[in-house]
Amino acid sequence: MVERYVDWEALESAAVAAMERAYAPYSKFPVGAAALTEDGRIISGCNVENASYGLTLCAECALVGALHMSGGGRLAAFYCVDAQGAVLMPCGRCRQLLYEFRAPGMQLMTTQGIKSMDQVLPDAFGPEIWRNLNDTSK
Ligand code: THU
Repeated sequence: MVERYVDWEALESAAVAAMERAYAPYSKFPVGAAALTEDGRIISGCNVENASYGLTLCAECALVGALHMSGGGRLAAFYCVDAQGAVLMPCGRCRQLLYEFRAPGMQLMTTQGIKSMDQVLPDAFGPEIWRNLNDTSK
């Protein structure tokens, strides 16, 4: 298990700042997400809704875009908040988005305290399946 020091307060502040930039005129449920990358950057994202409701982008969508736009890499720790700044669990689709870019031992702040990616998305379908399929050494 990878033990990594995480400044959770810095992540919480970044998530709240992101939440304050949300575009959520329909649900009126602004969300902010922040993450620490393996190489020490803090990235964030907010939800962006659409008049065509189903096109709404969750905060985590913006976050994984920011991950790539700021140099790529992997996510070591994650924090998501609602309008009150309370910890919010990522929805199922967003757990899958985060799983794709997880660093070994990735930690998530949850409503039940710090958990691992495997705890919030057990038995996941992930990028390994494609790596295994394309592995010609087998
Ligand atoms: N939302 C997120 O941004 N992330 C989640 O993990 C859960 C839901 C947003 C989508 C929508 O704009 C609002 O919360 C209400 O569902």
